[in-house]
Amino acid sequence: MKVFVTGGTGFVGRTVTRQLVSKGHEVTVLTRKISAGQGIPEGTRVIEADPTSPGPWQEDVADHEVIINLAGSSIFTRWTKKAKKRIRESRLKTTRNLVDALSARRGEDTLLLSTSAVGYYGSHGDEDLDENSPPGQDFLSALAKDWEEAAYEAQRFGVRVITLRFGIVLGKGGGALEKMIKPFRMGLGARLGSGEQWFSWIHEMDLASIYLFLADRDRISGPINCTAPEPVRNRDLTETLADVLRKPLFMPPVPGFLLRAMMGEFGSILLEGQMVLPKRLMAMGYRFKFPTIKAALQDLLSTQ
Ligand SMILES: NC(=O)c1ccc[n+]([C@@H]2O[C@H](COP(=O)([O-])OP(=O)(O)OC[C@H]3O[C@@H](n4cnc5c(N)ncnc54)[C@H](OP(=O)(O)O)[C@@H]3O)[C@@H](O)[C@H]2O)c1
Repeated sequence: MKVFVTGGTGFVGRTVTRQLVSKGHEVTVLTRKISAGQGIPEGTRVIEADPTSPGPWQEDVADHEVIINLAGSSIFTRWTKKAKKRIRESRLKTTRNLVDALSARRGEDTLLLSTSAVGYYGSHGDEDLDENSPPGQDFLSALAKDWEEAAYEAQRFGVRVITLRFGIVLGKGGGALEKMIKPFRMGLGARLGSGEQWFSWIHEMDLASIYLFLADRDRISGPINCTAPEPVRNRDLTETLADVLRKPLFMPPVPGFLLRAMMGEFGSILLEGQMVLPKRLMAMGYRFKFPTIKAALQDLLSTQ
């Protein structure tokens, strides 16, 4: 397959690109700035352009059968008005420009695998959520909904569109796990707030495999929850992390008000969660390599 990837230099993009190249696919990665140490595997074609602006790079897109859209400014920051605008526009503009580019492939088999997140559902307490559950009302829900809708516009040109609703991606050398383990390594790990909130997650290797799994099935479209079949509560995640890292757990819970004061609206997101289940992947027979948090953390942290 000829695959075009936006955000291929990122934490998820590097893993997905590596997997694609190792299976013999021809991959083009678009980056805003080519530089050494981006972790792009050998054999990958790299082009430099800003995906939020239309340009000659769009002609390149139309030369590929599979498009993986991962680009977007990081959400792991304090959500000021300016940051929210950057988070939103980087995703929506990139997706719209990709869709415009795909109009040139009218009639040819094309698959757009565009990113979304379980934040789509908003906060739902203990309710279990699948792909048919409605969107929430907060900033991330509205962003995910609009981001997905922008991608589905490509259906007008006969493009098959799948939106992958990621749980928190756990992987080596970056992402949420790197941030989460820092206090644990110092023996200062603690649950967040009540610890009752759900954490829907996925191991990076499962996510990379899911791209290939979906690309191989030519009738699948629509949203797909990319989360492990066993989400955990924050308190169980905290205990498992301490256990796998062999660190004591004696600190009191981080109070919710402190997290909100330190991180603003993003802090609230860490205190609320959602229990998301990968209903469609399970129905299609996808077999998770890392279905439990313990197996995932043991794999990711055993050599660190
Ligand atoms: N990691 C997670 O747990 C998680 C969970 C749910 C959803 N997601 C979503 O999945 C996608 C990939 O996540 P990730 O963790 O791999 O993110 P990441 O490491 O931050 O990488 C995102 C990529 O987007 C590009 N980018 C950054 N700012 C941009 C901007 N202002 N305009 C255009 N492109 C920009 C960058 O590529 P260049 O610098 O090379 O241009 C970067 O490599 C993101 O959209 C994220 O929201 C991630």
